[in-house]
Formats: sequence, C-alpha cells, structure tokens
Amino acid sequence: MSQTQILDIQPIAGTIGAEIRGVDLAAPLPDAVFAEIEAALHEHLVIFFRDQQLTPAQHKAFSARFGPLLEVPFVRALPGHPEILPVMKGREEKTKRNFGGLWHSDMSYAEIPPLGSALYARVIPPYGGDTMWTNMYRAYDALSDTLKSVLEGLHAVHSPVRSYGANGAVVNNGDPAHKMDVRTDERAMREAVHPVVRVHPATGRKALYVNSTYTLRFDGMSEEESAPLLQYLHQHAARPEFTCRFRWTPGALAVWDNRCTQHLAMNDYDGFDRELHRTTIAGTRPVGVA
Ligand code: SIN
Repeated sequence: MSQTQILDIQPIAGTIGAEIRGVDLAAPLPDAVFAEIEAALHEHLVIFFRDQQLTPAQHKAFSARFGPLLEVPFVRALPGHPEILPVMKGREEKTKRNFGGLWHSDMSYAEIPPLGSALYARVIPPYGGDTMWTNMYRAYDALSDTLKSVLEGLHAVHSPVRSYGANGAVVNNGDPAHKMDVRTDERAMREAVHPVVRVHPATGRKALYVNSTYTLRFDGMSEEESAPLLQYLHQHAARPEFTCRFRWTPGALAVWDNRCTQHLAMNDYDGFDRELHRTTIAGTRPVGVA
C-alpha cells in the first residue's frame, strides 16, 4: 500500500536543509504528520518552517515531540521557561563574538549531548543574522579511506571552557550592556570524551563529530599534537558544498539534528536587534564505529 505524503518538503541546498510547507506547528500534530517531519529531519538534517505563531508553551510542545527537553547551562533561560534559551543581541552591542558565532554542534561538551535543537525567530534584523549549517555525514564521506580508518580509531576531548570558562568568548557575567546573561561556573572546566566518527542511532550513517568551538584535542594527545589534524577537519567540514544558509523571517522555526550537523550564526547585523528562542532536545551517548 503506497503512503501519500502530506507535507510539501522543498530542499534549499544540494546536500542539507529543506523547507516544509503546509503545517501549523501551534496545533497538535497527528502522528502521521509528525512521522513525516521526523523522516524529513533524518533526510535533510535541518528543516525549516515559516510563518508560525508559537507561544513559548507551543514551541516547547512541538520540540518535545522529538524527545525530552534539556535546560542549558551557563545561559539565563527565558523567565518562566527553563527549557527555552533566548539567543539575543541588541542594537547597541558591537560584540566581536556573538553567541553561536563559530561552527559548533550544540553542547558537544556534555557527556550526553543533545539530539537536536529547535530555534524560533522572534525579532530578525532587516538584513544579516543568517544561520548556516553543514552536513557532517558528507564531511566524513568525502575523506580518504585511509583518513577515515585513522579517525574511526580516535576519540576527542570536548569542553565548554573556551566559550564559558572565566575568560570564555561569550561570557558576560550579567553585564547589562549585553542582552543575554551568560555566566561562567565550575561546569566550564569539565571534559567529555566522544568518538571522532559517530554512528547516528536512527540512520546508522557515520558522521564526523568534532567542532572548533568545543573540541580541545584528540584523547591521548596534547592540544599541540592535535591541532594540525583538527584544523584540517574543521576547514574541511565547512566546505561550501556541504552547507546551507537560512535567511530568517519572524515566525520561522528551524529544527536541526545535532548528531550529524554543525551550525554557525552570522554576526553581520550591528545596529539591529536579533532575538530567537531555542529549545534543546535530549540525546543519547555518542557511539563510535564498532
Ligand atoms: C545557536 O547556536 O544555538 C544559535 C544559532 C543562531 O543564533 O542562529
């Protein structure tokens, strides 16, 4: 029996990203519709919906269809909604390093990093402030067989320290000049070790799992020893043909799979406000190649 597709799903780039039309995320979704959305996430890795009218409770309810929601450390949550992280930059801020402004996979520093995130646009500048994503399956697939087999035997150490340590790039410790309230604490010194090649629990595909924001070094190697290969992998993963770039509009929502993508928020909108709300969906412990 053939299944009829309910949703209109349009890719936005050659290897990653699709826009889904014809769904109102504020309403409870029938299981068949949600199953198509989840399948689209597995196929396209990041999916977009435009013109949604979501309260924080509706944003959380939709996100929670993918899995339990996490409370994110270091960043003050939306009042009354501990599971919503407001990503904000005000028109007065001329920060060199915006939140999420380097390629990363959310919270890869955690022992059990998130499955994904759902980012909802509330205030968007008239130009700039786009977000880019990159396909870490493709990044892995494009490596030579020899490098793949070296990487499959390696683990890497991830930590929040460069972002959230005492001198962390995005810490402002409640400075009122910043709209976001990002504070360091003792958790910034923790480290987690994950396989460098991660097997996706739903698709079974292999993805490169290192990023320049949170990966400090290969396990068992110094930072200095690790740097040349890590730097190569970071620039390789950001090859333009592995990426897509999304132009936000108010009411747009992006959901991405953190296990096989990285993303980066552009910081090119000085003089304008930008505010998006992120939910973060709990994942499972990364598993390497057997
Ligand atoms: C994030 O990295 O979670 C935020 C991305 C963005 O602001 O576009």
